[in-house]
Amino acid sequence: MTVLKNDRFLRALARQPVDVTPVWMMRQAGRYLPEYRATREQAGSFMDLCRNAELACEVTLQPLERFDLDAAILFSDILTVPDAMGLGLYFETGEGPKFRKTVRTEAEVQALPELSVEQDLDYVMRAVSTIRRELNGRVPLIGFSGSPWTLATYMVEGGSSREFSHIKSMLYGQPDTLHQLLDKLAHAVTDYLNAQIRAGAQAVQIFDSWGGALSTPAYMEFSLRYMEQILHGLIREHEGRQVPVILFTKGGGQWLEAMASTGADALGLDWTTEMQEARARVGHRVALQGNFDPSALFATPAGIRAEAGRILDSFGMGSGHVFNLGHGINQHVPPEHAKALIDAVHELSARYHD
Ligand code: CP3
Repeated sequence: MTVLKNDRFLRALARQPVDVTPVWMMRQAGRYLPEYRATREQAGSFMDLCRNAELACEVTLQPLERFDLDAAILFSDILTVPDAMGLGLYFETGEGPKFRKTVRTEAEVQALPELSVEQDLDYVMRAVSTIRRELNGRVPLIGFSGSPWTLATYMVEGGSSREFSHIKSMLYGQPDTLHQLLDKLAHAVTDYLNAQIRAGAQAVQIFDSWGGALSTPAYMEFSLRYMEQILHGLIREHEGRQVPVILFTKGGGQWLEAMASTGADALGLDWTTEMQEARARVGHRVALQGNFDPSALFATPAGIRAEAGRILDSFGMGSGHVFNLGHGINQHVPPEHAKALIDAVHELSARYHD
């Protein structure tokens, strides 16, 4: 078992005492860092960067060199899973992710291959073990996957979407077809996260970025249920330590009680739900992660510090809070502003821990 030099993040997820509140940022490795843009240039395409274990490790560590972060997150993308299923992921500049093939009929769902993740996504597991080696116990490494529902939105729509018209037509018109797709994805995601854990991921996060687009009954039936299925299949202890699972449904504030019932260790919150309210509702069952509005990083460093202080105060005394953004960092944020946030969280949070 590796000795962790900084285990605040894992301690907060287990709601054990910490000296200060741990902090990391969703999308902490990315285009807002000039050194990321340089490595990305050197690699070629975004997927070339994901497939190169040495370079993926390099960009994972870049934000840790600049900021006093309490966790590293694997550099990869949620869309590697549908890509491995043969859909052909590519990125059109300025337009976000796209797939060459879509999945819209029952026949197309049935034709999707069952993944052998250790082979089909071997480059991800190589990146995980390379990063673990290079981190050398500095901070824990987070692995991740998209939720079945969120992955399905990209597969059915063929890319990013605002209205989700194709997948919602499937949801309301051919629910059995959508269930077959989600069940296939839940199996693939379970295998994928377990492979990341075996390769060295010390916590995992499920990104349900589009769960918030659903009605309450549709969320329960088409998103939460499959995340719960995944939770039941995950390795929960590895290398003599618990492997905590964080569920993040963007826009899921109204469903926290149901999310806490899945057996997840922590829930990610966006900025539309107050920490204090969330803690009162579910804080006795799970840790909470969040929930700084990423756009508030465009404020002055003094404004950023004040907003960080407000969120720490909203959570209040004691452990169980992992400070994070409520969604990914924007590519136009000045890196000094990210540093102001990380430093403020550590400086201002000591008084909430005895
Ligand atoms: O957090 C991290 O630092 C780890 C890396 C990470 C990336 N994507 C790198 C990335 C993680 C955890 C993701 C998850 C991801 N990817 C999600 C879930 C989180 C969320 O934002 O809701 C989603 C929906 C995706 C799909 C995706 N991939 C999008 C929407 C984009 C952006 C497209 C664009 O042009 O803005 C990507 C590409 C991507 N993934 C980039 C990075 C750093 C930018 C690609 C580049 O370098 O050009």
